[in-house]
Amino acid sequence: MTNIKMWGGETFPVEMHKVRIVQKISLLPVTERLAAITAAGNNNFLLQNKDIFLDMLTDSGVNAMSDRQQAAMLLADDSYAGSASFTRLEQKVRELFGFEHFLPAHQGRACEHLLAQVLVRPGMIVPMNVHFTTTKAHITLQGGRVEELICPEGMETSSNYPFKGNMDIKRLEELVEKEGPEKIAFVRMEAGGNLLGGQPFSLANLREVRRVCDQHNLLLVLDASLLADNLYFIKQREEAYAELGIRAITKEICELCDIFYFSGRKLGCARGGGLCLRDDNLHEQLRELVPLYEGFLTYGGMSVREMEAMAVGLEETMDEDMISHSPQFIRYMVDELDALGIPVVKPAGGLGCHLDAAAWLPHLAQSEYPAGALAVAIYIASGIRGMERGTLSEQRNPQGEEVFSPFELVRLALPRRVFTLSQVKYAIDRLHWLYTHRHLIGGLTFTHEPQNLRFFFGRLRPTSDWQEALVAQYRQDLGEI
Ligand code: F0G
Repeated sequence: MTNIKMWGGETFPVEMHKVRIVQKISLLPVTERLAAITAAGNNNFLLQNKDIFLDMLTDSGVNAMSDRQQAAMLLADDSYAGSASFTRLEQKVRELFGFEHFLPAHQGRACEHLLAQVLVRPGMIVPMNVHFTTTKAHITLQGGRVEELICPEGMETSSNYPFKGNMDIKRLEELVEKEGPEKIAFVRMEAGGNLLGGQPFSLANLREVRRVCDQHNLLLVLDASLLADNLYFIKQREEAYAELGIRAITKEICELCDIFYFSGRKLGCARGGGLCLRDDNLHEQLRELVPLYEGFLTYGGMSVREMEAMAVGLEETMDEDMISHSPQFIRYMVDELDALGIPVVKPAGGLGCHLDAAAWLPHLAQSEYPAGALAVAIYIASGIRGMERGTLSEQRNPQGEEVFSPFELVRLALPRRVFTLSQVKYAIDRLHWLYTHRHLIGGLTFTHEPQNLRFFFGRLRPTSDWQEALVAQYRQDLGEI
């Protein structure tokens, strides 16, 4: 993906691929969209795909595959043990990331489960730049505790700071000093800080984290699920590495880490996951758990076809044209929305465009789930499905009280090579309309609230008839579609 210089002066990203397989989608009339979201209990996770126009829920497992990936899938070698597909994947992982050992898992959270089982004991702490929902859940289940040590800029939704995913090194040093290294299970760095709005860390920061780990003999674990975006941002934004190729930056990152795991649903544009490590002892302990929870060591819960696709997908991650697609589309969307005065997380990161629902809807209390309400309003106003990333995604504390999230975001994910620029322009247009009528958006309240992972299965209703008012305004301004 290159920002080709336009003679007319405008700047926009141009796709460095052509589309050869397509999937038809449809856009329901606005009244049917209201009926669909009502039937889904005002929870975007419960919508049916057929009712969605642009699915911007996530990039997980829905990035577009390349012709080479599809071709590789035909070569899949199906066998319970000793599959050549696994060997090909293992070799590619070794070549790119340089670790001795590779263990397959059915997806990213399975790697987190295995790591937590082996490394986390009750009372232990896992410092990290930023948590991810599944990571935190697995550490907590083992009786451990997460300490988020994000740099102060990371907490600002609007900033020019290029590496908002950096860890605050001083706070890490203070934490290790205070608690003692024996209480630290491992230090975790997440590439492409998901819950921060897809914000990267710098290689310089990772080096500093390594220095502290070396001082205290701590393990450094990298969650590389969103590594592709982070690689691109290091290349673009970190001066010292501007001349280095993506492959070389990858090597530098990996050399700094003891353990590296990833969701193959994101990295590698396939479905699955894996864990890389150097230590023989640790490898043996983790290896025992793979057949128990995942599957035999040469598939780990993945289909052989997906392993073939992943091997090719990982290689393609080394291509700057390929990994720049999402970040450049996201930047276009963020810049356009920002120019219209619409509150978005800045600077543009990876994964998706993140709307700041707290700034959109200051008239709503956090207990009315502003990010959840905005996600629902966006579906009604456009047929676009985004993901709530705020208080609704949190869990109540043991006393049953709400845990208010520091951010109220709606993520509009841009999976790689899936959407066209005209679809992104449509999204911008409808968001502009909705922002203009944001005073019409009201809150949500639970009608069914599950104890765990309530954002997946919970059902809600609007706290007033605001959705009918929104639809009436829409029909007046834009008609039925
Ligand atoms: N780590 C990060 C940083 C992730 O973003 C995810 C998944 C996981 C781990 C878990 O991986 O889904 O393969 O089990 N993120 C998805 C998302 C779900 O929509 O952002 P998984």
